Amino acid sequence: MTKQIVVVTGGESGIGAACAKAFGAAGARVAVLYFADHEGAQASAAAVTDAGGEAITIQADVSDEASVNAAFGAIEAQWGAAAVLVNSAGVNMTGVAVRDMPLAHWQRTIDTDLTGAFLASRRFLTGRGAATGGDVAIIQISSIHAHAVRAGGADYCAAKAGLNKLVETLAIEEAARGIRVNAIEPGMILTPMNARAQSDLAYRASLERNIPAGRAGEASEVADLAVFLASDKARYITGARIPIDGGLSLMQALGA
Ligand SMILES: NC(=O)c1ccc[n+]([C@@H]2O[C@H](COP(=O)([O-])OP(=O)(O)OC[C@H]3O[C@@H](n4cnc5c(N)ncnc54)[C@H](O)[C@@H]3O)[C@@H](O)[C@H]2O)c1
Repeated sequence: MTKQIVVVTGGESGIGAACAKAFGAAGARVAVLYFADHEGAQASAAAVTDAGGEAITIQADVSDEASVNAAFGAIEAQWGAAAVLVNSAGVNMTGVAVRDMPLAHWQRTIDTDLTGAFLASRRFLTGRGAATGGDVAIIQISSIHAHAVRAGGADYCAAKAGLNKLVETLAIEEAARGIRVNAIEPGMILTPMNARAQSDLAYRASLERNIPAGRAGEASEVADLAVFLASDKARYITGARIPIDGGLSLMQALGA
């Protein structure tokens, strides 16, 4: 990955920060796109450079077309067209049943988790123009909730299911240009999105009992998969939706 230009949305936290660091360790130039946490973005960029890569930080709201376009314009002005895009930016389910869910809740999740990935993917692709060949990859951080529904999660489940369909469609549209598009479906990963599981060990243990592997996952484990999917070793993998969940998604309906 030496000098490869990698864009990571949601790069200031959790899985995105772990991906930024892992691509840095592979020698990449990483654009850490962040939403609001400037300090987190700086720490993430420092982790990239400590690991042996190069980093820049750029503020961007993935749900805003102009903001996404400006961020990619800034990256291209500094380094050129990116070869890898990791879309990790996302918000969690609101936890509100559909009958009580305000439209604004629904829209925020769809705009961030689905439309955000569309906007960043589209701008990544247009930035590359008609070029073909090379190790070019888009990795969408989806979720096992693209398949496994949860009450109070209609916004998130619909966004992630839609994201998987975006992955599948993009994969067949871009395959002839050598651009591979894959989804990673994490299960329970210890990040700020699972803040309670990190601070409340009894709560965490109660959730981990449902995971065949017996533990939650680490963001770095998801990042290792992202680096693999972006690498030449994954050159024949496109349109895949890969769970990384310690077997959790296989537990549907068990215990019923
Ligand atoms: N942690 C888990 O257990 C888990 C499981 C399955 C899927 N995921 C997915 O992984 C991805 C990363 O989540 P995480 O666990 O690292 O959580 P996180 O909260 O640490 O990271 C989410 C990131 O998205 C950014 N973000 C939110 N809204 C944004 C916007 N409008 N524009 C730009 N950035 C925005 C946040 O600033 C943050 O950096 C998400 O897409 C999430 O749905 C996480």
